[in-house]
Amino acid sequence: MKFFADTAEIADIKELAATGLLDGVTTNPSLIMKSGRDFMEVTKEICSIVSGPVSAEVVALDHEGMMREAEVLRKIADNVCIKVPLTLEGLKTCKALTSDGSMVNVTLCFSANQALLAAKAGATFVSPFVGRHDDNGFDGMQLIGDIRLIYDNYDFRTEILVASVRHGIHVLEAAKIGADVMTAPPAVIKGLVKHVLTDKGIEGFLADWAKTGQKI
Ligand code: G3P
Repeated sequence: MKFFADTAEIADIKELAATGLLDGVTTNPSLIMKSGRDFMEVTKEICSIVSGPVSAEVVALDHEGMMREAEVLRKIADNVCIKVPLTLEGLKTCKALTSDGSMVNVTLCFSANQALLAAKAGATFVSPFVGRHDDNGFDGMQLIGDIRLIYDNYDFRTEILVASVRHGIHVLEAAKIGADVMTAPPAVIKGLVKHVLTDKGIEGFLADWAKTGQKI
């Protein structure tokens, strides 16, 4: 499963990229607002740090407007992935952009039927929001399972990008289902490495090693 960082914070992206575990980045207008950075500038900087897809979202709601914005965004770098909302206008834009060779991430997916439409529109990625789904009393992981089943039934190549990931259990369940990608805040990705028994084990080994008086 590929790991994308859901952030526009350069320091966090650099830290994760240095581990070799980062396959891409997703941003959205809220994350850009939080970063306090200029959208074009920060997207360009992220694209220079990460070689994988970097999602940058359009804000127009009509097809012509989305196409105009996508034209600006795809000039930033070759690894920009245009993010469009899961609306009829967004799907129309997805079809046009992917037919033209651009990567497209169809975002704000909350149903398996929406994901089916995204795949039919040729999306590179579809982003079901599991956390927001759970928040509203639905089962986010059931949605991922349904999309996996449908995509496998028809051999759709659209990658399932599990978004709105809030904790390690989301990551674990997404991996068990066979989602292609998950995007999570840097703190969630870094938290995956933590285990109390790992820390305790290191502590014990180091204490015993010190008693040997040896050096490597
Ligand atoms: O990037 C889209 C998605 O991951 C947002 O997550 O936590 O705002 O629901 P969240």
